[in-house]
This record gives sequence, structure tokens and C-alpha cells, in this order.
Amino acid sequence: MFFTINFKKKMKKIYLLITGIITSLFSYSQNQLFIPTTITGTSVNLTIQDSSVQFYTGAITNTIGINGSILGPTLVLNQGDFVNFSVNNQLTESTTIHWHGLHVAPQNDGGPHTVINANSTWSPSFTILDKASTYWYHPHLHKYTDKHVSKGAAGLIIVKDSIEATLNLPRNYGVDDFPLVIQTKDFDASNQIMVHTNSDNIPMVNATIDPYLNVPSQVVRYRVLNGSSQRAFNLGLTNNQTFYQIASDGGLLPSPVSLTRLLLAPGERAEILVDFSGKNGQAIYLKSFASELPNGIYGATNPGMGAGMSLTGYNPNPLNGADFNLVKFIVGAQTSSPITTITSSLVTVNRIVESTSNITRTLTFSPASMGMNQLNGNFLINNTSFDHSVINYTIPFNNTEIWSLTNQSGIAHPFHIHDVQFNILTRNGVVPAANEMGRKDVVLVKPQETVRFIAKFETFANDTLPYMYHCHLLSHEDSGMMGQFVVSENMVDISEKNMNNEINVFPNPSNGIIYIQLKNNEVELNNILIINSLGELVYADITLDRGLIRLSGLKSGVYYIRVYQEGKQITKKLLVL
Ligand code: C2O
Ligand code: CU
Ligand code: CU
Repeated sequence: MFFTINFKKKMKKIYLLITGIITSLFSYSQNQLFIPTTITGTSVNLTIQDSSVQFYTGAITNTIGINGSILGPTLVLNQGDFVNFSVNNQLTESTTIHWHGLHVAPQNDGGPHTVINANSTWSPSFTILDKASTYWYHPHLHKYTDKHVSKGAAGLIIVKDSIEATLNLPRNYGVDDFPLVIQTKDFDASNQIMVHTNSDNIPMVNATIDPYLNVPSQVVRYRVLNGSSQRAFNLGLTNNQTFYQIASDGGLLPSPVSLTRLLLAPGERAEILVDFSGKNGQAIYLKSFASELPNGIYGATNPGMGAGMSLTGYNPNPLNGADFNLVKFIVGAQTSSPITTITSSLVTVNRIVESTSNITRTLTFSPASMGMNQLNGNFLINNTSFDHSVINYTIPFNNTEIWSLTNQSGIAHPFHIHDVQFNILTRNGVVPAANEMGRKDVVLVKPQETVRFIAKFETFANDTLPYMYHCHLLSHEDSGMMGQFVVSENMVDISEKNMNNEINVFPNPSNGIIYIQLKNNEVELNNILIINSLGELVYADITLDRGLIRLSGLKSGVYYIRVYQEGKQITKKLLVL
């Protein structure tokens, strides 16, 4: 399977010179698509290990595998099951394993704070609360996510639930229901995987280069993950055959959405149905039609919006702005009990109603430095870079929030948030397309675009251990385009025991405008809370005014001003006349 040697690497240089013509003249060796094994049940044992794969003639490629030489097993989990995990790190360095998209407590989330040292084991256990869909797991150690994922550490999670089980859908793994983990990689001259280069010119699916897959002539389900570090794929089939998206990141859609193209950004998943009925004997390719990508998306001809904006190492690369094959489907005989029709309806999606929101948070993405070089990062969120010790937001437990994301940089960023699935409200003020109306945990925000989503922060609260939000372009994440939030139950605790004198609040009593001064001057504006005498969160306009924090617009009453500073909670009583 993997070990089939192919010669594409040798072609790389020629490829760059004679792009286009050569792809049609040569037919490369085709390798059977690798289908990861599955782990089912309530006990999941994973071992992360250094390994190798013979991708090319000559030197073997060093990889990281999970229970194997590259990628990891597909975990098939049932909603409602309490699952015990054991994650053993056999690497010579630390890592983490994050369950991307699953709604779990922060201590089980596997983010950058939950480090698994070399030669040690992490054993979280939790109940699977999520809806049937396709999730994934991958390392999340700060600054090393790209390295670990690119070298092969990633796997899919299939969650099943009782509603999905009643639907007329293919669900026979490896028979009519297939995982497709799409990635691109950059190999150096000694066949080693490089990261942070922008020279990812080798597409692979399930860690197989030039793959083919035998499929039956009936309705087939694909669980597609864009597991690339940076590249977006504009998926479509040769012959422009219509396919149907049935699920977005965190759940099934109300009904199948018919498509001929599907833009899938890093971190995003989609489940699609393809009807191969009557196509026995045909070969149909899944391709990325990247020639159709608008500029400003990694994978397009120009990764930036502005003319002349360049990204180091991006050109030349035969994949940028070009159409290329991902996997060849060879259609064969039907299985014994085939699905032959596309079901017309799926599930009820209860979107969160916009008017239930308690707050809108505004997040702006920008390059750390302007000019032609701005695509090379770093990128900032609200002018700040990730700081392991700073909690960027404290979210009251059970809050429903709108997050408004504005991209003021020249390149599109796939924004991802842990803990929740969200509903996209608008893209530049307009309700999104049908396939973006379901449950999502990654959303691509294009240059100059504002995307608003709504989410409820429920079930888990922890005052100190945060969840992450970040760009899922792994080089951006690694270089600090990330922040963290805690969900706090104590937000509404106004007991006097927490009072202290480390903040000055004046004038007090006040007429609705107050200033806050801290003994130690560092505090994030986002970390200021105002709680009324009922213990409810109140919002005011918060601005910085000559080094002081100014709150305005408070009605008369008793309030408690709370700030979070270096992980410590400070509360002060305030009377507004
Ligand atoms: Cu897929 Cu925070 O990650
Ligand atoms: Cu995640
Ligand atoms: Cu980004």
C-alpha cells in the first residue's frame, strides 16, 4: 500500500519546468488508497511513535504514526458512551492529542496546556456528547503542531448516534463509507517532510500518493478532512458530476446539499455522497479545481489579495492555481445491499437564535507588519499574539455569544474554536450558503470579510484551564495566531471574599462613567467584567483612556467590577448613582 515506490519525486524538478503537459503524458504508478483501521468501543489505546514510510526510491521518510507508520486509526465512537482513552507518547519529545470538534471538558481537550511528555501516558475519559459526524484528532503542542501533524500524526473520529442510524445512508466503513484525509506535503532532497516552507507540492490522500480506490456502483459516502497545514481544496469530480454534502464539521445537515464544487479549508470536514450507480467500469477522479480559487486563499494562483503580495516559497509550485487529481475512483460491482438513492431529508438542525446572544465579541485578524511581505506573518488576533499565560476571554458559563471575525489581512484564515460547535450567522452581512448552515467548528474568513457566528458555552466550566481559538493554518497557529478562553461558573459569584484593593475604581459612587486603575498595570480590556447586584453580567462600553480603563453607560445601581490578572480574579464593588 504505502510501500509502493513511486517516481513522482524524481519528476519534481522537471515538473516545475514543464508543468501541465507532463501530467497528461505520464501516468504515474497508482497506489491503492490506504484505509486506516478502526477502533470501536469504549476503550481507546493510542501510541504515538516515530516511524518511517518508503514513499520514494532512496531514502525512507521519517514519519510520526499513531498505532502504525503514519496517520492513526479511525475512532468509531457512539454518542452517549463513556470512553476511556490511553494516549502513550513514544516520541523523544513532548506532544499533545486534541479531539478536534468534540465537546469535552478543558482537561480532556488535549490543547497546548495538556502536555504528554516523552515516554508517558495521558488517560482522559469522557462521555461522547457530540452528534453524528466526522471529527479528528491531532497534536496541539504550541509551536510544534505543524511538525507533528505534517509528519503524520492525525486520525479521524466518526461519531455515531441513534438518529443517523435510522437514515438511509451508506455506513459500511471501507465498503461504501470511506475516509479521505487530504493533505499536501513538502519533501526535501533526502525525502524528509518539511514544515513552514509553503512548498507543499505533493498531494496525498490517507497518506497515499497518487491513490486509487475501488468503489461500488451505488451511492458512496466519503468523510473528507482537509488535514493540510495550509492548503485549501476546491473539491469536485471529473465530468463535473453532482455530489451531495450531508454533514458539515459537527453534524448532519437538514437535507443533502447538491454541489459540483466544495471549498474545504484546513481543519474543515465534510461528508459527501456520490452516486456511482450505472457507472460500473468508469474511472472518476476527485480533484481540486484550484484554478477556480479566488486570490487571497492559500492554494490559489496568488495567495494574497493585493497585487504583488508574495509568500516566501509559494511560487513556483505546480499545485497553486492549478487543477490537480487527489484520488481516482474505479467503479466496480455493487455490494449486496447497496444504497442507490440520495435520501431527501436528514436531521433537524436547531440553529441558535441570534436574539438569544448575551454579547458580541469582535476579533480582528491582521498581519504583524504591513507591506508586500505581510503574507509571511506573523498574524495577530486583536493585535495580540498567543501568550500561554494570558486568558484572552473569560466567558460566563452558559453564555450565548456572537463572535464577529474580521479579516484585515491579505490572506484567508480558517478560524477554529474549541469546546463548541457554532452556527454561522452571516458572511459580510449575508446568510451563508446551505452547506454552511449546519454545525461548524472551523470557518474560512476571506480577506476583507466579516463572518459572524453564534455559539453557546455550556456543559463545562473551569476558571483556570482554557480552551483555544486559532487559525487552522498550522504555520499561523504555531507562530501565535491563537488565543484562549475560560468558561467560568464563578462569573456570577459576587461574594465579598474575593474583594481586594489591587484595583482603584473611581469615582465611586459614580454617575455612569468610571475609571479603573490597576496597581500592576497589565490587564486585557477583554478581561473586564461588570456584574450587577443580581449576579448577572452587564455590558458597558470599555475603552482605554490615558492608561486608565474607562467604562461608560452604566445605569444606576450596585455593580461589581471584576478583572482577571495573571490568572487571579479581582473584584471591586461600585455604586452608580
Ligand atoms: Cu484542530 Cu485547536 O485544533
Ligand atoms: Cu480543535
Ligand atoms: Cu491564518
